[in-house]
Amino acid sequence: MSNNIQSVRGMNDCLPDAADTWQAFEAIVRDWLRRYGYREMRTPILEHTGLFKRAIGEVTDIVEKEMYTFVDELNGESLALRPEGTASSVRAVIQHNLLYDGGKRLWYTGPMFRHERPQKGRYRQFHQVGVEALGFAGPDTDAELIVMCADLWRELDIAPTLQINTLGDYESRQRHRAKLIAYFEAHQDVLDEDAKRRLHSNPLRILDSKNPAMQALADNAPRLMDELDDEALAHFDAVQRLLRASGIAFEINPRLVRGLDYYNRTVFEWVTDQLGAQGTVCAGGRYDGLIGQLGGKPAPAAGFAMGIERLLALVEAGGRPLAVPAPDAYIVHAGEAAERFAWQVAAALRAAGLATVLHCGGGSFKSQMKKADASRARFALIIGDDEAVLLQVTLKPLRGTGEQTRIEVPLVIETLKNATI
Ligand code: HAM
Repeated sequence: MSNNIQSVRGMNDCLPDAADTWQAFEAIVRDWLRRYGYREMRTPILEHTGLFKRAIGEVTDIVEKEMYTFVDELNGESLALRPEGTASSVRAVIQHNLLYDGGKRLWYTGPMFRHERPQKGRYRQFHQVGVEALGFAGPDTDAELIVMCADLWRELDIAPTLQINTLGDYESRQRHRAKLIAYFEAHQDVLDEDAKRRLHSNPLRILDSKNPAMQALADNAPRLMDELDDEALAHFDAVQRLLRASGIAFEINPRLVRGLDYYNRTVFEWVTDQLGAQGTVCAGGRYDGLIGQLGGKPAPAAGFAMGIERLLALVEAGGRPLAVPAPDAYIVHAGEAAERFAWQVAAALRAAGLATVLHCGGGSFKSQMKKADASRARFALIIGDDEAVLLQVTLKPLRGTGEQTRIEVPLVIETLKNATI
């Protein structure tokens, strides 16, 4: 075991090959969001701890067990690395009064931090693309959020399945909560420690328990569905109608309660069985109370976030391979005049927008050509003193069956721009 410093457990490096794939994914995502009229917002990675306590809920796994929280020794403030992006988005929207002239469609991407037990698909630093539609009350927004996910899955050629549920509104949740507490109190002997602790503070969370010994108890618990009022039911019906009209298959899962407290009405998760235990690739729902709860003028909202690591794993498991960028040209050169000319050619190619790697460090043509191959470039540009004198370049396709040719620089640029390899 070496004593070299390693990365923090559960936090991964994104090496160049992986970063190529991430960039290709991000380009698809940016274009997809543009087509739906969403605009990017960037918020800080650190926030006041109180923001997440108030938004996500004091009695949730994230806030109780998973937040990276520390006291800023310079001023005594308690800060947290963001575990998710919704709270920060709402904080920023309130702080900058972004809803003053109506609803906003926003998205963000970046690292999130949760001190969970790392395993495949679950990391302590992971990345989300999050989408928030703020200021919109109708079921059309819920449905569109789901439809846009389906659109992205089609583009990535993956097929997670959709589960939806409704959590109703405040009053029905209070009624349900009272019934749940009475029910769980009557079955104290089956409750584990977590459940006992949450019995009075957040009984809904008990339904979310992964403890197999409590599954039957949770399955037979009073159902929120039975407490829903007409308005919430009509909202849920309308979401389903719109989904059917868009040809989106879904399953209603009454057990779907989500791990964050801010949700009401529609909640949804996109899940797959191709990734083992961590099969939720995207999740979200409506959170009509959060803006008011964080001190803003009350306004409805809904959104979702997808885990990039999990989505890319799913793409790798069978989706469409993402087109990763490669250099257009790798310039090899030997000789003094050739080197001078090679620099000029590289500058001309780059000015024309071509991705050009100029060989550094000398060596024989043979060893330089090996580097050119390894770079995955589409073409090698070979420059010896002969070529330099004539201001020409030998162009060698590194893929396909094309012939090597010796041509002037403007023609090189034209050929590279038009080449289909
Ligand atoms: P969430 O369900 O906590 O929701 O996370 C959303 C997604 O982030 C998950 O479905 C999963 O793909 C990914 N994810 C979560 N934790 C990890 C982890 N430890 N490692 C890898 N991936 C992970 C939210 O964060 C809400 N803010 C979503 C939302 C936005 N609701 C409304 N607007």
